[in-house]
Amino acid sequence: MATSAAGLFPDITGRFAAADVPFLRRARLRAERTRPYAGMTVLHNVPLTAETMCKIEVLALGGAELVVTSPSFMAPDPQCVEALGAAGVEFRREYRFPEEFDVVLDCGGELQPLVAPRMGVGELTGTGTRRYRAACPAYPVIAVDESRVKDLEASLGTGRAFLHALRRLVREPIDGRPFLVFGYGKVGRGIVRALAPHTDRVGVVDVDPGALAAAAAAGCDAMPAGERDRVAAWARQAFAVVTATGTPGVVTKGYEVAAFLGAHLANMGGEDEFGDAFAAGDVLCGKQPVNFSVSDPGLVRYLDPVFHAHNLVVDVLSHARHRPGVQPFPDFLADEIVDCWQRVFGEDLDAEPDLRRVDRRPA
Ligand SMILES: NC(=O)c1ccc[n+]([C@@H]2O[C@H](COP(=O)([O-])OP(=O)(O)OC[C@H]3O[C@@H](n4cnc5c(N)ncnc54)[C@H](O)[C@@H]3O)[C@@H](O)[C@H]2O)c1
Repeated sequence: MATSAAGLFPDITGRFAAADVPFLRRARLRAERTRPYAGMTVLHNVPLTAETMCKIEVLALGGAELVVTSPSFMAPDPQCVEALGAAGVEFRREYRFPEEFDVVLDCGGELQPLVAPRMGVGELTGTGTRRYRAACPAYPVIAVDESRVKDLEASLGTGRAFLHALRRLVREPIDGRPFLVFGYGKVGRGIVRALAPHTDRVGVVDVDPGALAAAAAAGCDAMPAGERDRVAAWARQAFAVVTATGTPGVVTKGYEVAAFLGAHLANMGGEDEFGDAFAAGDVLCGKQPVNFSVSDPGLVRYLDPVFHAHNLVVDVLSHARHRPGVQPFPDFLADEIVDCWQRVFGEDLDAEPDLRRVDRRPA
């Protein structure tokens, strides 16, 4: 395998400033020096993008015998496929696995019915974690989604990516505009946080009293989902309505559809949260999560610690015995990664959004 000081895929990973990928950059140097994964077979199933190549590089340079696949919900980047081939790393288009693997690094749980690894699985997402849990696996599954590290991406990164995408798709000023957000979980809270520098007019709809209390404390107009007339009145005067509840069809099922049609409609959920009463053309990006449609080079700093943690699952599984079944990525490592990330980038993961802050800047 030919390597250089610039790494294995310099044309692709070189797109990112070293300062934006501090965890994977350091891990790569360690991997080259100590070859911690030599002799291990690893099946890697994460959407194949330029960012993912920074992660694959660490495993490959660390000596892992890799098979790379890409989940069905996103087409692999052809340049990345080509670069893997040039570096001698196998990219497999079909989910066919006659061989055995030591470790599976999965995203979305698509490999759960197909492969039973010797040592265990690292799973990135909540959907995939639920899938593995339901299957009661006989091997350990380390869930990165159930650690604080994932909040760096899900809350801070996704909020930022939402705003970046909306501004490119809508091309209208957003300052002072009213936004209605469905769901004040990790993603919804991140969206409100990203909006805070631009507007203090945000309505939040949720079913959970705790989430509503947190939204109210952040200065949002917090509405229980059952207050249909109040929610519809908010939607009528909203500049944009954003869904992030994880519940398909939440708007169609609960509310008067006409009240929503004057606003920009943006889905951030994994599934269509506007529902059947809305045509694909009524909702930005045909109902797909809006941030998937617009690439954001600034996002890599939020993915870097999460991808690093996902790779570290190989180390975690090889250094200690784990019971079968789903368990969170270890807290002591997650805390270390989050603390270090906060120091480097000066953002506080636990700071609640505050719409009453006064330092708003023009969009
Ligand atoms: N677009 C992206 O890049 C991206 C990234 C991460 C997650 N997601 C998706 O975003 C969605 C939300 O993820 P999350 O991590 O914030 O979930 P979460 O569980 O942290 O939060 C969901 C919130 O929605 C609320 N909710 C549930 N049902 C509701 C209803 N009927 N009406 C109003 N509120 C309701 C819950 O009480 C909770 O507060 C999921 O579909 C997830 O897959 C998207």
